[in-house]
Amino acid sequence: MALQRPKGTQDHLPDGSPKLSRDVQASAFRHVQNTAQRVLERAGAQFINTPLFEEAELVKRGVGGSTDIVRKEMFTVYYFGDHGGYVLRPEGTASIVRAYLQNGLKQLPAPLKLWTHGPMFRAENVQKLRLRQFHQVDYEVLGSEGPLVDAEAIWLMWEVVRELGLTGVRVKLGSIGDPEDREAYNAYLRELFTPQLERLSGDSQDRLTRNPMRILDSKSAEDQALIRELDVRPMLDFLGEEARAHFEAVQRYLSVWDVPFDVDPGIVRGLDYYRRTAWELHHEGIGAKSALGGGGRYDGLAEQLGGAAVPGIGWAFGIERVLGALEAEGAAFPETGGPLLFLAAMDEENVGLAARVALQGRRVARVEFAYRALKPGNAFKEADRRRARLAAIIGSDEAARGVLNVKDLASGEQREVPFAELNTFLAEQV
Ligand code: HAM
Repeated sequence: MALQRPKGTQDHLPDGSPKLSRDVQASAFRHVQNTAQRVLERAGAQFINTPLFEEAELVKRGVGGSTDIVRKEMFTVYYFGDHGGYVLRPEGTASIVRAYLQNGLKQLPAPLKLWTHGPMFRAENVQKLRLRQFHQVDYEVLGSEGPLVDAEAIWLMWEVVRELGLTGVRVKLGSIGDPEDREAYNAYLRELFTPQLERLSGDSQDRLTRNPMRILDSKSAEDQALIRELDVRPMLDFLGEEARAHFEAVQRYLSVWDVPFDVDPGIVRGLDYYRRTAWELHHEGIGAKSALGGGGRYDGLAEQLGGAAVPGIGWAFGIERVLGALEAEGAAFPETGGPLLFLAAMDEENVGLAARVALQGRRVARVEFAYRALKPGNAFKEADRRRARLAAIIGSDEAARGVLNVKDLASGEQREVPFAELNTFLAEQV
């Protein structure tokens, strides 16, 4: 058998491929990226790119030592013998904050809105829509701590989803408070779970010492049963006054702007850098356990990375999951069309000429040509197969007179167009 791609990765395929489903359709990926770009750039977000690999230390400090990502899912790249190793980035936020600090982006007008898209890597247990290389659209805002920025970020995420035509999406909104609120909550959880230590999964026993709140996010059914049995109080009960006021302001904005959301008192998120506002988008079509996207505020992250304090908030959604949700909804989708014009020569000696005319036409429209001489019947068949709108055949008569006989494949109408006028003619058709 020929070599296969690694487990947990996907090929993004051209339209018409035999094994095509929406979540691996390259044009569908581009459609999601383009939609996000349109929505985000209208809001003033600028594109940023960061490397696909980073210092392991950045990810450890950024994402956090108690997370599954750092503990179990890092793709480490050993390259230099004495170097501690790079990791393939598991997410974009830590990198963007690093780039902000390293490149003096503080000089730019605040709040600074940035966006990116690209592959992320997590060595997960592979399941449907849980991949080892997946793709995110990521939006980050740096330099403002006001709740209006939080609400705008959530609105933008909602707006991308709306523009894509998805209807079955729910926003689950929560707050994980300020660090002191979290400490109080973790102390409460420690007290509650320590007598039950034996009943917790190995992972959660570990979480109890490192970050008890993460127990609530456990994937083990036994842990979840215990959580229900103990009737654990939610993080929201532990919010301090300021975090509560912030959370309420975010909700007020969203209500006025008609963004539907449910307050989820138990929202945890899988990364350590969050504080205050945190949320997830869910879609029934891809299963309750898989979020379509998520985000939150991370005001302490820049300091955690060794830089000056800068407040930040952002979100990311998984493109594969968005595509899975679109597939589940049978959502309408723009088709990638064929060329405007397909050109063929009838004789070998005119193949080069037909190609030259096509190359000229490409200055204004998508034009394709046949790589060998074709009989008229075959040329029209080929044009049809490529879903061209117009087809033209160059025989020795057309070549001598410097004209094309262009046929509209839908109406059957034909007209003669001199080579010199082709681009004007094509421009009128676009
Ligand atoms: P996250 O919740 O870890 O947040 O990931 C965001 C989204 O990426 C998820 O909701 C999901 O759609 C997708 N995703 C994550 N892991 C996988 C996977 N293994 N396979 C397929 N899709 C996956 C973050 O990454 C944060 N950086 C978001 C953020 C930005 N927070 C603030 N700014």
